[in-house]
Amino acid sequence: MKIIVCKDYEEMSRKAVELVAESLRETPAGLVSFAGGETPLGAVHAFADQVNAGEIDISRAHYVSLDEWVGLSDTDEGSCGLFNRVELLGRLEKPFAGAHVINGAAANIEDERRALDAYIAQHGPLTASVLGIGMNGHLGFNEDGVDFESDAHIIPLSDVTKRVMTKYFGEKFHPEYGISQGLRQIMAAKRVILIANGAHKAEILRQAVRGEVTNRVPASILQQHPDCYVVADAAAGAGL
Ligand code: PGA
Repeated sequence: MKIIVCKDYEEMSRKAVELVAESLRETPAGLVSFAGGETPLGAVHAFADQVNAGEIDISRAHYVSLDEWVGLSDTDEGSCGLFNRVELLGRLEKPFAGAHVINGAAANIEDERRALDAYIAQHGPLTASVLGIGMNGHLGFNEDGVDFESDAHIIPLSDVTKRVMTKYFGEKFHPEYGISQGLRQIMAAKRVILIANGAHKAEILRQAVRGEVTNRVPASILQQHPDCYVVADAAAGAGL
């Protein structure tokens, strides 16, 4: 793992985009994925700005979303799909060659899971995957206890994730399951960029980076990735 501790959130976001841009220069027809949520917001905005400024060329690259709450579509408030559409894809004046955003409200969620596998198989492996870390160490919805060898899957949400998600939904929605790229697909990415900010992430990030590799802390598997960058702001990186 290559650890980069930045002075603040803006620098963390800029650094993450720099690493994605470098990957896309090497593999212009690659496959890119960004996590949704609070952490990557600055990075996806910076990425879109640089694409629009002609500094990053995505005309031959594809995009795939990381995960979704089962029950929510990309028009539902708090969904990862809405984040993808509004904060990233909708901002691009020069679009990706193609994009696949998971629909957590699909009538047949098993078909949706298969479609995610198929898209990654067709356009992958991932060139650059930008991930956040959950308070339980999850990557996407690879919750604690997940099988490291999984492809796309549907998984019960952990109690920690259910507690944290009130920041997205309040009492409006109580998802029980997530649909997610699997760790086998994430580990097959050419480059992984794990970003984290804020003091509340310091302890779980320390466990993921310095602790033993265990599926109790799914992000710890990234210690075995050949090109993984951990990019943290000063508060989240305090324990590294
Ligand atoms: P956050 O979520 O960016 O909202 O902190 C990270 C995660 O749960 O993966």
